[in-house]
Amino acid sequence: MGNTSRRSFLQKLAATGATLGLSPWTLNTMLASESNAPRVQTVTAGQATMLSTWNHGIEANAAGFLALQQGGTAMDMIEAGARLVEADATGLSVGIGGLPDRDGHVTLDACCMDHTGNAGSVCFVQGVLHPLSLARKVMEETPHVMLAGAGAEQYARELGIDQVELLTDVSRRAWEEWRKTSDYKPVINIENHDTIGLLAMDNQGRMAGGCTTSGLAYKMHGRVGDSPILGAGLFVDPEIGGATATGLGEAVMKTVGSFLVVELMRQGRSPQAACEEAVHRIMDRMPTDDLQVGYLALSRSGEAGGHAIHGGFNYALTTADGGSLIDATHG
Ligand code: GLY
Repeated sequence: MGNTSRRSFLQKLAATGATLGLSPWTLNTMLASESNAPRVQTVTAGQATMLSTWNHGIEANAAGFLALQQGGTAMDMIEAGARLVEADATGLSVGIGGLPDRDGHVTLDACCMDHTGNAGSVCFVQGVLHPLSLARKVMEETPHVMLAGAGAEQYARELGIDQVELLTDVSRRAWEEWRKTSDYKPVINIENHDTIGLLAMDNQGRMAGGCTTSGLAYKMHGRVGDSPILGAGLFVDPEIGGATATGLGEAVMKTVGSFLVVELMRQGRSPQAACEEAVHRIMDRMPTDDLQVGYLALSRSGEAGGHAIHGGFNYALTTADGGSLIDATHG
């Protein structure tokens, strides 16, 4: 979402705040974004914290804190944040309105991990408005970790989840325009958003994470990115911390990026230093002129960090004191 449309989305949300039950604190948090905030922030251990990728992270975190205020856990914070962004039809990279694959199908990937280390994932899912909620159901209600494609859609139907059309007029028109050349080329930092990756710690120190995306625009039908792959797009070790990724999933999968970040934190690196090392691992191994990847990390002690290959990646950090939008370091 561009800055202007994001602001108008937030203002619309604020205008209906009473209906939604949003508190003045939540609304202030959603509307207070500062791009010049410090790049590395430490919050008090045990203090609720939420960290999410890109501009849309501000409203996602606000929804997460609303869930917390209503008695939710870290996992509830993640799900609430993801659902808000998945349902925003103006976003071209997550949920409804996401740009389709080269054949015109919107296919979604999502995963989550909770404070016990449990995990759930869905990939290559069509017609499901809230893939992260479906991933949570896989985690909590099935003996499995990952369901794909038609099987995930069948499970959604069994849960009574209605099928919805995810291709909007805007995303259909964009696809029709793209088809005139069918030139496949990933565009970095598209409209200052991409996959939303979310990390949260609640007041009891429980950690959880989630990741949800429509993936690369105009990808081959059947392509699955890093976002539903545990260890790539997301990893949470409740004793150490969590990490999540955004950007070109192929590069993240080849380096198992989020797992790498958490393992580096286990070895004593700060979240910021761990994200930098994971980015450098990609930069050392492949050409990155047209390739963007960004990592976010949150440690068990409440320290946050973020780093990307190129400039332009930002993330939202929210605590009970309010939220800020932080430009990630890069290079
Ligand atoms: N990071 C999202 C994707 O590559 O699908």
